[in-house]
Amino acid sequence: MTIYLDNQATTRIDPAVIAAMLPLMDTHYANPGSSSHAPGRLVGEWVDSAVSGMAGLFNVASDELIVTSGATESNNLALFGVALHPKQKRRTIVTLMTEHRALLDPLSRLEKNGFEIIRFPVLQCNETDTGIVELDRISEAINENTALVSVMMANNEIGAIQPLSEIAKICQRFEVPLHTDASQAVGRMPIDVQALGVDLVSFSAHKFYGPKGIGGLIVRQSPSSVQLQPQILGGGQQQNLRSGTLNSVGIIGMAKAMELAAANRGTEMAEQERLRNLLWLLLNEQIDGLNLNGPELIAEKRLANNLNVCFPKVEGQSLMLAVPDLAVSSGSACTSADPHPSHVLLGIGLSVDQARSSLRFGLGRFTTEEEIRMTADWLGKAHAKLASFAA
Ligand SMILES: Cc1ncc(COP(=O)(O)O)c(C=O)c1O
Repeated sequence: MTIYLDNQATTRIDPAVIAAMLPLMDTHYANPGSSSHAPGRLVGEWVDSAVSGMAGLFNVASDELIVTSGATESNNLALFGVALHPKQKRRTIVTLMTEHRALLDPLSRLEKNGFEIIRFPVLQCNETDTGIVELDRISEAINENTALVSVMMANNEIGAIQPLSEIAKICQRFEVPLHTDASQAVGRMPIDVQALGVDLVSFSAHKFYGPKGIGGLIVRQSPSSVQLQPQILGGGQQQNLRSGTLNSVGIIGMAKAMELAAANRGTEMAEQERLRNLLWLLLNEQIDGLNLNGPELIAEKRLANNLNVCFPKVEGQSLMLAVPDLAVSSGSACTSADPHPSHVLLGIGLSVDQARSSLRFGLGRFTTEEEIRMTADWLGKAHAKLASFAA
């Protein structure tokens, strides 16, 4: 039996989501853009209603939600779209060092093309609020040359939740649009885009029990409208901002997944928080000298399903090899083929050795207390054995 605790990397598709998608693959396969016939119009109506339902959950209008292939594409559209718009005169983008590669890599490309990218550090592991950015830094950095500020809502490795509404207020003062990569937050935290005051929001359905390869970018049109240069050209779908036949199967699945998450989020996240705290407690009972990477285990500062632990004297990779039936990770999934230690853990001040000795646990909707108890037991035994070789 495999215990899956890597829900920050991806989640299992909820059976109700699969059931909602099946008819779109089978009977109702028409192109949602084919308004010339009834099957196309029917699927088109379903897709419109799914998009409108999702937009409603974010408290935005339907035409403010652009469907993409996921958060990587959404981040690319937001960054290149803002930076390369013909009317764009500003040349600086402000972000954090601990963002996901799906944000940092497009920014490096823009840097090569002449943009100035300011990457802020976050609070360090010896400070309170580890992983969170200091607001003063943002306000000092923004000026009339800032094209965009991009700060993720919640970190995928250490779960740190950024003070986005405060950052939004600073951006509004300077009339600078604010983008947030909310991949880890959608489905786990309520997101009222209007109340938050953000302009662009990226997300991926597979992080909240929906299918892979589908996601979205919210592009606010009011109070101020963000102008984006489209990155994918073609049939002119989605107000010309992202051409391509709409992925009706994915859209219906993503909408169902979002609806389920919104309906059950309170109880679901409370249970994941309970189990996450239990895991931390049990691991500490089994192993001396553990360190918690990232902010304290409290709801306002850290994702309720995330735990990131530095193990004394033993590498994370060795622990994973010793416990092959446990699916956890030593970094983000997208960089797990990368032998370098996590830039997020280094970014909060861990040494290379400490970063290599760390594991990330992401609990999910299907995690049980029995699995948590077994995980702590397996890791306790494996650590004792490996640490005895190291001694
Ligand atoms: C914070 C964050 N941003 C972006 C991504 C990329 O998402 P996708 O691979 O679905 O495009 C991920 C997924 O790992 C993520 O956790």
